[in-house]
Amino acid sequence: MDSWNIWSFLTIILIIFDNNRQSFSIGNNEVQGLSSSKSWTSNDQTILRHVQIVFRHGDRTPVWVEPPEPYYEKHKYWPQGFGQLTKQGKAKAYRLGQLLRKYYSDYLGWRFSVQEVFIRSSALDRCIETAQLIMAGAYPPNSSLARWNISSTSEPLAKLWQPTPIETFIPADEDTLLRINKPCPEADEIKERLLDSRRNRRLLQRYRPLLDQLERILSDHLHTIEQVSNVHENMNIMHENGYYWYKWEPESGNRSEELSKWTQESEEEIRRQLRLFEVAKYRSMFDDDFIKQVRAGELLHRIGDIFKSRRSVMEPASDSDRDYRLHLYSTHDTKLAALLQTLNVWNQELVPYLGTLMFELHQSRENSSQYYVQLWYLNETADLLEAQELRPHRLDIPGCDQEEFDEQNLMCPLDEFLFLIQPFSPPQDWKHSCGIHSELTAMISVNILLLIVNLTMMFFLLMGIMYVCSCINSRSGYERLR
Ligand SMILES: *[C@@H]1O[C@H](CO)[C@@H](O)[C@H](O)[C@H]1NC(C)=O
Ligand SMILES: *[C@@H]1O[C@H](CO)[C@@H](O)[C@H](O)[C@H]1NC(C)=O
Ligand SMILES: *[C@@H]1O[C@H](CO)[C@@H](O)[C@H](O)[C@H]1NC(C)=O
Ligand SMILES: *[C@@H]1O[C@H](CO)[C@@H](O)[C@H](O)[C@H]1NC(C)=O
Ligand SMILES: *[C@@H]1O[C@H](CO)[C@@H](O)[C@H](O)[C@H]1NC(C)=O
Repeated sequence: MDSWNIWSFLTIILIIFDNNRQSFSIGNNEVQGLSSSKSWTSNDQTILRHVQIVFRHGDRTPVWVEPPEPYYEKHKYWPQGFGQLTKQGKAKAYRLGQLLRKYYSDYLGWRFSVQEVFIRSSALDRCIETAQLIMAGAYPPNSSLARWNISSTSEPLAKLWQPTPIETFIPADEDTLLRINKPCPEADEIKERLLDSRRNRRLLQRYRPLLDQLERILSDHLHTIEQVSNVHENMNIMHENGYYWYKWEPESGNRSEELSKWTQESEEEIRRQLRLFEVAKYRSMFDDDFIKQVRAGELLHRIGDIFKSRRSVMEPASDSDRDYRLHLYSTHDTKLAALLQTLNVWNQELVPYLGTLMFELHQSRENSSQYYVQLWYLNETADLLEAQELRPHRLDIPGCDQEEFDEQNLMCPLDEFLFLIQPFSPPQDWKHSCGIHSELTAMISVNILLLIVNLTMMFFLLMGIMYVCSCINSRSGYERLR
């Protein structure tokens, strides 16, 4: 898959992309400075009508480590397996559930009901588990209906926990709602080009001595932003778990000499420098309208459509049997990054574990046919275990002509929100837009191939028969002679 070599000659296109790159923080910081972290779930002028929460899973182990990368010994350092939640991640997810419950206490009922709450998760273990833990924290069984302690055997658990369904989508690679992996050659080509931008190549050049050193340790090439970003991702996780490279004592094989020169300080400094590469990766990889459409479009439009349907439910004529109040989506940092960049509200920071976007639908009290969207970003999640309350930041979507309620409480009219996300609707025909040859053409080309093979075989068969015949003929001629 190392096709980046092919792209290195597309320099001219890269320059164009580089110049088109826009800053994502336009006017945003200013507004965020004004907004305190206080939430106005409902207030004097608007009523909260619906909430959709998109969160990244909790702290995890590395997705993959292999020798000679330090701490590759899975049984010793990552016994829960690769890409799985850690204890930290589990405890924090549960705490986030409790704090979300507290944050929306005025809005959510205590009783869990499948009629009211819908939870969907990416099909990966860590996302499903995170969704379970958040639900356990947010919906303890403290209504008589929810308590299922009807026997002494169920008693201990039934006091603390109740089951809640979690919808997933399998196979994971087909899930365009909560993952960004569905094959799309067209988008991948653009992504490769964006990642190989002039700015990124300058970054690689600037840190060449450090990368050379890492290459000697890892016995691997570090030529692309993604490769270096992966090194950072793993080193970061190792540091979170107290596993410093320089302290590593390998079970077998040899540790690189380089590591003996490192100290905790120098290693942390290296990690900080490598972080730039992961930020650069996220900055580049969604910086294109088609990629946004393909990678963020479906979730964004699902959110918009649900808000739209809530509005029609509120209108008298509707007779929906379900009265959803809350939608939860358990997903990955890549999906949150794609959403943030598509809405043009990314803060140029990596999305932390359990980073959470809260999309709220508000109804005006004065004019009940007016609806507004507010977007909150919970990104200070490192200290969730000690936190007493959530302090999300309000994100004001650039381009939306917001209205002001109460003290500087800005809201984006629903219709404007829908209008702003319109250009990013997911492609109608995935295969066509992504440049995947349809099954029909594939079938035709396979058939043509088979036909050629068949014809060739028939030709040789015929030749064979003719040869055998001529042999028999000449032999019978010989026999006759004899
Ligand atoms: C459920 O627990 C919360 C917090 O402990 C409490 O405020 C609420 O009244 C309880 N509800 C019921 C129905 O017990
Ligand atoms: C279940 O728990 C409730 C409240 O904790 C209690 O009143 C009830 O007796 C319990 N039922 C059983 C069968 O233990
Ligand atoms: C490890 O280092 C020792 C001495 O430097 C050397 O003899 C040995 O072959 C090395 N083993 C591996 C697996 O590289
Ligand atoms: C969280 O996001 C806000 C708003 O974008 C930003 O001001 C703040 O620095 C971020 N905090 C962290 C820890 O990234
Ligand atoms: C209420 O809002 C709707 C939609 O924006 C508008 O058409 C209508 O005129 C408004 N009514 C009042 C009384 O302002």
